[in-house]
Amino acid sequence: MWRWTLAVALASQALAQTEPDPAAGRKIFESQCALCHGQTGGGGRGPALSRPKLAKAPDDAALRSVISEGIPPDMPGAWQLHTSEVSSVAAYVRSLGALPPEILPGDATRGARFYEAKGCAGCHMVAGKGEGFGPELTGIGARRSAAFLRQAVLKPSASLPEGFQYVAVTPASGAAVRGIRVNEDSFTIQLKDAGGRFHSFRKPELKDLRRLEKETPMPSYEGQLAAAELDDLVAYLASLKEKL
Ligand code: HEC
Ligand code: HEC
Repeated sequence: MWRWTLAVALASQALAQTEPDPAAGRKIFESQCALCHGQTGGGGRGPALSRPKLAKAPDDAALRSVISEGIPPDMPGAWQLHTSEVSSVAAYVRSLGALPPEILPGDATRGARFYEAKGCAGCHMVAGKGEGFGPELTGIGARRSAAFLRQAVLKPSASLPEGFQYVAVTPASGAAVRGIRVNEDSFTIQLKDAGGRFHSFRKPELKDLRRLEKETPMPSYEGQLAAAELDDLVAYLASLKEKL
């Protein structure tokens, strides 16, 4: 009897390992990954996965291990998934990256000029140039889909990157500070203000510490760019693929 059970177990395990099911993987993806990676993998709080190459998952084994173990601290591991489910999600993720590259309507060279003219470099670094108040945009085109980039420019507060927090602090003595949280533990918090200065506070010495949920210092550019200008700007951002 045990032989038979074992044979069935081995056979079904072999089946599970040799035949990942992308359709099943898609269902799991939509319920457990889409929250951060977007419904079709276009990106959100987590990076876009609809790309032919994933830096942290260069091959299928690495992809499966990223899925089951996660990437601390920002991506949780899907430890509850069975090995065969992990293979199916991995197969689905690969199928997203096999789609033909998006053809964007805009002109990246003109977009680079709008980027300069609109003062984006006052808060962002690209290839070592600009200010580092907001996230670095070098390689942003490899991490984010065009749809996400468009949204980031029009409605920045709707697409805050994972782990991003804008905070208002009032010390017991001294001036109030608003800034992006850089580091925090039980007793201290470090912020970077709009001028790029770092501030470190001991929590017991604060009169007030407020997390500005869904707020960002990045202004919305809705209504400030013509449709064609926005296309150009998105094409420029999408072209920044070099380094992760
Ligand atoms: C809570 C948000 C969150 C959830 C849920 C989540 N991820 Fe992620 N994922 C992230 C973040 C953030 C990163 C980037 C981490 C880093 O690079 O440090 C990431 C990175 C990845 C990467 C590596 C991308 C690259 O460019 O190399 C893969 C692959 C991935 N996730 C797949 C998945 C799959 C599949 C699921 C569902 C089983 C999932 N993730 C669930 C947030 C999430
Ligand atoms: C006052 C500072 C400031 C200015 C000016 C600014 N940004 Fe931002 N930007 C931020 C901050 C802070 C974030 C992170 C929080 C968020 O997503 O809003 C961000 C996020 C982004 C993101 C998403 C990054 C990611 O990792 O998901 C993109 C893309 C972006 N900005 C592009 C631009 C472009 C293009 C311009 C000019 C048209 C611009 N920003 C102007 C501060 C700024």
